[in-house]
Amino acid sequence: SVRVPVIAIDGPTASGKGTVAARVAAELGWHVLDSGALYRLAAWTVLDNNINANDIAAVALAARRMQIRFDDGQIMLAGQDVTELIRQEHVGNLASRLAPAAPLREALLERQRAFRQPPGLVADGRDMGTVVFPDADLKIFLLADVQSRAQRRCQQLRERGLVPDEQAVLADLKERDFRDTDRAVAPLKPADDAHQLDSSRLTVEDTVAAVMSLWHKRLRQS
Ligand code: CDP
Ligand code: CDP
Repeated sequence: SVRVPVIAIDGPTASGKGTVAARVAAELGWHVLDSGALYRLAAWTVLDNNINANDIAAVALAARRMQIRFDDGQIMLAGQDVTELIRQEHVGNLASRLAPAAPLREALLERQRAFRQPPGLVADGRDMGTVVFPDADLKIFLLADVQSRAQRRCQQLRERGLVPDEQAVLADLKERDFRDTDRAVAPLKPADDAHQLDSSRLTVEDTVAAVMSLWHKRLRQS
């Protein structure tokens, strides 16, 4: 079988991973994995089925059984379109609280790897380059300072017709950063061979161009 190339994009919340991963995948004609969506789907499943979030074995089992389909920007769970539902703040919050649990991470591991299909995969998350695809061909650690990230999150909320509480958004971001970096299992940290890219003062286009340039450089090396 042919080895399928992977570009891993990890980083803190709102650094632009999802946006950049989708654009890079579109440019290359590759598949994309939004791994955060899987954690959100697990959180949604817990809420929707009244599963005790502290019963981590039950959470992991439910996550294993999820019937998920990603098509063209739409996320389907057991035939229901949950794209918008899983984007809700309280779902993301529970996802972030469940994410440290090793049995849940284990339940989602093979599922994430199954996205590695020809001609290639761009995967974004927290542990794509460290745990899920340690042999990724290119690893990006996408950063941005917390103020820029808070502004981006507020802008996204405004685009969805909501009125953001900027202080609350900033506080929530800091809390998520802490939970993601502080956990024992698959903490947020750059892989040893990751390229750090700070997007604080870059546009989306500049960031995508920077990733593409690293990819072309990588191709010339192999
Ligand atoms: O996936 P992650 O949480 O890292 O971020 P996202 O959901 O892609 O959100 C990032 C937001 O910041 C999007 O609204 C982008 O348009 C914006 N943005 C960016 O991603 N990169 C920049 N260099 C500038 C802005
Ligand atoms: O809401 P936010 O953009 O921070 O996160 P997301 O990418 O939608 O993922 C939801 C939550 O799942 C995050 O807060 C992370 O704690 C967790 N996650 C993870 O632990 N590992 C991943 N590979 C992706 C997400």
